[in-house]
Amino acid sequence: MKIIKLLAAAALSFAVSPALAQDKAAPVDRAVFDKLLTDAFAKAPEDWRKKMQLDETQRICTETRNQPSNAQVGAIIERESKDVKYPADGKFFGDIKAGLRVANTGTGAQFSDQPTTYVGGNCYACHQMDVKEVSYGTLGPSLMGYGKARQDEASIKEAWKKIYNSQAVVPCSNMPRFGAKAILTEQQMKDVMAYLLSPDSPVNK
Ligand code: HEC
Repeated sequence: MKIIKLLAAAALSFAVSPALAQDKAAPVDRAVFDKLLTDAFAKAPEDWRKKMQLDETQRICTETRNQPSNAQVGAIIERESKDVKYPADGKFFGDIKAGLRVANTGTGAQFSDQPTTYVGGNCYACHQMDVKEVSYGTLGPSLMGYGKARQDEASIKEAWKKIYNSQAVVPCSNMPRFGAKAILTEQQMKDVMAYLLSPDSPVNK
């Protein structure tokens, strides 16, 4: 996110004259932006660089500046919901402690990673969860006590769907698609589910 913001800022400063920069931001020229982005990741391996090609959902969100029309909202939800995979063994909850690690680790998913780098979900970067953890971001809503009123099957499945593919629930969401984009493993998603929803988790104390 950070690098994209920096690049967007850089692209903007090319596109507008300094006098105008504060008043009127001209639309960023798409070709200029694409080139900046591609050049910034020139050293990334080929399979990683493919991630810079927008998929259909990202394309709509980018082109509408995250304001999809009603028809586009419907199309995104339909497309993104199709591939949501629920746990094969029907068990949604893994280990609470392992889930804390998933929630509070922001390493991984960079092309410069070692094969041994742990890939976390970094939930705390955007969400408050355990009241005792004072370091958290506020891009997403607070999830403190999230499991207290969500022990029924439908709510548990809905939370899984949200984590697996946030766009299947809220089109043009800022939240990563952890399952759909293979950021987290099924086990990690089960663990973070336990951390988020289990009555025994510190999140729900
Ligand atoms: C980059 C920021 C970001 C990260 C990282 C992130 N989320 Fe979110 N999340 C959001 C935003 C923004 C929303 C609210 C809008 C939406 O639904 O997309 C949200 C919504 C949610 C919701 C639904 C809340 C509700 O109101 O019902 C859940 C559950 C959730 N996130 C869980 C997680 C978990 C678990 C993780 C880590 C594995 C995580 N999020 C990581 C940004 C993030």
